[in-house]
Amino acid sequence: MIQADGLVKIYKTKETEVLALQGLDLTVNTGELTAIIGNSGSGKSTFLNMIGGLDKPSAGALWVAGKNLFTMTEHELIGYKRDTVGFVWQNNGRNLLPFLSALENVMLPMSLSSQKQKREKALQLLEMVGMSHKKNSRMNMLSGGEQQRIAIAIALANSPKLLLADEPTGSVDFKTADYIFDVFTELNKNGQTILIVTHDMALSKKVKRVVAIRDGKISSERVLKEAYTDRLRESGIDWRHEDTQEEFAVLDRAGRVQIPQELMETLNLSDNKVKILTRDGDIIIQNPNKEEK
Ligand SMILES: Nc1ncnc2c1ncn2[C@@H]1O[C@H](COP(=O)(O)OP(=O)(O)OP(=O)(O)O)[C@@H](O)[C@H]1O
Ligand SMILES: [Mg+2]
Repeated sequence: MIQADGLVKIYKTKETEVLALQGLDLTVNTGELTAIIGNSGSGKSTFLNMIGGLDKPSAGALWVAGKNLFTMTEHELIGYKRDTVGFVWQNNGRNLLPFLSALENVMLPMSLSSQKQKREKALQLLEMVGMSHKKNSRMNMLSGGEQQRIAIAIALANSPKLLLADEPTGSVDFKTADYIFDVFTELNKNGQTILIVTHDMALSKKVKRVVAIRDGKISSERVLKEAYTDRLRESGIDWRHEDTQEEFAVLDRAGRVQIPQELMETLNLSDNKVKILTRDGDIIIQNPNKEEK
């Protein structure tokens, strides 16, 4: 579904250039639910916006659902944004019209031809996000969490191949975040490919695959342990504290790997050189000034 190779994004301002993405590689398969985590400013939104066709890469290659984002014409891009990807933001204000009902909001972006078809599909989507009982409510009568669920239904209005969400639970309370997250999990169970940026560690621990961006590159990946894959809806699990995932550093095609920040200090380096040794088939990264015993 997504293939990013050596993706680079440079933002030019009057005084300086910002390297927001620095050779990012990522492959996402159809049917996957993937979360992206990373510090503020690490390039998460830049990457998501690029996949959403809202921004163009400076270099590298980006393919989504068989389409090359780099060579797409403006006209093709309009079709792509309407049919291939759906987008949910942290603040749903940009998707919702306050004076229309929930149902009307969901029908609005649909490219289906008849009103009847639109209505049927919209009702189906409202059902999916657990909001059919509020279909006639105006947006300004709904809570933040409810509005966010409507925003998800809107993003799905044209059955996109890929659903993108940038901090969709960023402005709701913990319980609501959990509920919204369950909506994504449920959609994914029904085959929807989803990519979510989140700051919420507890939520990210429920995801089968979490990729971490550091300085514009994927640095590590966490994968849900087999023992937890069938327990996502269980209420007895303390997701915040249990060790549900296994962590891996990501090795790129040039053989580069980032040493986790916590381990950098263990190395206690005084300059930028390390020794790489092998022992019993393992590779060891060592401070060159360390005395070999
Ligand atoms: N339009 C822009 N013009 C100039 N610089 C930008 C622009 N958009 C983003 N940047 C810079 O690119 C870098 C990556 O920004 P980005 O928004 O992708 O980070 P993020 O990981 O989404 O952060 P956050 O968690 O705070 O949302 C930052 O240094 C940011 O200042
Ligand atoms: Mg962001």
